[in-house]
Amino acid sequence: MNAFWSMFVIVISVAMMLACLWLLFANAKGVPGGTGEHVWDDDLREYNNPLPRWWLNLFVLTVLFAAGYLAFYPGLGNLSGRLGWTSRGQMEAELAHLTEHRRLAYAQLKTLPVNALAKHPNALSLGRAVFMANCAGCHGADARGAIGFPDLTDRDWKFGGTPDAIVTSITQGRVGMMPPLNGTLSAEALHDLVEFVPFWSDDRLPAKTRAAGLAQFATRCAGCHGADGRGLTVLGSPNLTDDIWLYGGGRERVRQAILFGRHGEMPAHDTLLDADEIRVVAGYVYSLSAHDEFGQ
Ligand code: HEC
Ligand code: HEC
Repeated sequence: MNAFWSMFVIVISVAMMLACLWLLFANAKGVPGGTGEHVWDDDLREYNNPLPRWWLNLFVLTVLFAAGYLAFYPGLGNLSGRLGWTSRGQMEAELAHLTEHRRLAYAQLKTLPVNALAKHPNALSLGRAVFMANCAGCHGADARGAIGFPDLTDRDWKFGGTPDAIVTSITQGRVGMMPPLNGTLSAEALHDLVEFVPFWSDDRLPAKTRAAGLAQFATRCAGCHGADGRGLTVLGSPNLTDDIWLYGGGRERVRQAILFGRHGEMPAHDTLLDADEIRVVAGYVYSLSAHDEFGQ
């Protein structure tokens, strides 16, 4: 605000307060029981009682309050008020308080390894907050994932579920890449695989179907998914022998995976989160799946 507008605001504000006082006292006069001069409908007159004292005093108090407020807080043009209060100053003080609070909260946790953070109530609540702000959008607020986004609460890990592996997944990100195999296998081979892979964990699968599927698997898929089909953490290839599916189970989903490939990507978070945040969120994720260890 330049000097002119500042002065303008000061003059208008002070004049308004004085005008209020004048209005109040001018109207305070009156004769109890007396009537005004105006007459309506021959005999209708209006009383001219003074305003009740208490009511008047309330108004005077509000004007005094305004004067006091403007003396201590900013409001009159560019004048800052005796207390020197500013909204920015208050925000900065609160921010400094929060930053200090956060620094102290993290300082206690610096020496603890990730698996200890997974049992530490303060670390868990910090980790949960980091998770909600950064991970829940993809992995879900309950961390149970969705099609293409892994469930982090089960014990099925593509890239490994140790504290170190989880920290690496978060810090560096992960890429799971299955190339499309369309055109590299015959219709029979595809059929044998599609009849077998989705039902790998099902004991009722006929032995003949299993053997035909396994034969195809051994030549075409085992290199990436492991000879036993349980996946390789270096590639992030999923375990195909359990009933947990990243992209959904069933013949059609598996046929799509084989023909068109799959490509999932977990973004690196090293530039988004600092080391402390990565450690607490890793602890939180670790706590979600390590149920037995915590006797839950
Ligand atoms: C070059 C390595 C590679 C080969 C060869 C390969 N896969 Fe994969 N496969 C992967 C990877 C890595 C993923 C995980 C992709 C991701 O994370 O998005 C995957 C994912 C899958 C999925 C999805 C699993 C789920 O949980 O939804 C299926 C099904 C699958 N592969 C079946 C096969 C079959 C059957 C073959 C053989 C015909 C095969 N793969 C060959 C690397 C491979
Ligand atoms: C943009 C979406 C996205 C965000 C944000 C994201 N993730 Fe992921 N995350 C994925 C995908 C997709 C995969 C699986 C990658 C693949 O298919 O290979 C994954 C994989 C992972 C894995 C490895 C799972 C396994 O089975 O080995 C962990 C651990 C993980 N995420 C934790 C986190 C945490 C913790 C955060 C927050 C700091 C986070 N993610 C944020 C998409 C995301």
